[in-house]
Amino acid sequence: MNPSIRKFIFHDLQAIEGYIDPPDALVFLAALRAQKSSALEGGLAEIGVYYGRSYFLLRKICGDVAKIVAIDPFDIKRTGQETTQYDRFVAAGRQLGLFVDEQRVIRSDSTLLKPEEITEKAGPVRFFSIDGGHMLHHVEADSRLAAATLAEHGVIVFDDTFNPAWPEVTAGVVDFLRREAGRFSVFCLTKYKTYICHKTFQEFYSRAIATSHELKPFDQLDTEFLGSTAIRLHNPMRRRIAYEVMVGLGMRALSERAYR
Ligand SMILES: C[S@@+](CC[C@H](N)C(=O)[O-])C[C@H]1O[C@@H](n2cnc3c(N)ncnc32)[C@H](O)[C@@H]1O
Repeated sequence: MNPSIRKFIFHDLQAIEGYIDPPDALVFLAALRAQKSSALEGGLAEIGVYYGRSYFLLRKICGDVAKIVAIDPFDIKRTGQETTQYDRFVAAGRQLGLFVDEQRVIRSDSTLLKPEEITEKAGPVRFFSIDGGHMLHHVEADSRLAAATLAEHGVIVFDDTFNPAWPEVTAGVVDFLRREAGRFSVFCLTKYKTYICHKTFQEFYSRAIATSHELKPFDQLDTEFLGSTAIRLHNPMRRRIAYEVMVGLGMRALSERAYR
């Protein structure tokens, strides 16, 4: 793998407050690389930008030309802090030396959006990350929006699935899969995220995961989920501990060795 992407995932990105860890960053990379090598084009979208950790990962992997729609009300206020959530997002881009495409930022509650508001900015979407509101009505609205804007070869990623702190996310994803009655399948499960594509692309993305060099350190276990066989990436405890110890000791640059 290009060492600069590895350094970015394990080191640079960790300086931005947020919620994507290296294992999922490596799944994003594997799916996006597979799309690139098969010339599967399209826009990207994220609901729930926060300070941009996942947004900047998408930007780093896909480059300045990628059309990334960033959706968030940007109304988080921290007591005692002058800078707004949006300012911190833009500042994170400056810190990482990455482009924030302000024309494609939608400062809104995602549940109020229509599919055209996304496709007008990015065309059909090839990668849609959902990490906004975590209650059932949010997941219901966001999954409909993502499905309506998705390219045939697109991927939808739901964050916080199977997290007992947010049970309605899992309920919403299950409702979505049942409502769509076999149109979508789950191709990958991690500790935090569920990865979905159209059934016609299940084999394509399963192969991308199974053959990805950077995902080799994980145990890959076939897991049945509502009619699909997903690859569950298991991250053994000893590796998670080794990684956390290195990060805790300030050895971020070396922490990627835990994932070789
Ligand atoms: C857990 S954070 C997202 C983390 C982010 N994806 C990352 O990579 O660090 C959740 C974000 O969702 C946003 N959010 C909450 N409700 C939302 C809604 N209804 N529509 C859009 N964004 C929402 C919040 O403002 C917050 O920035």
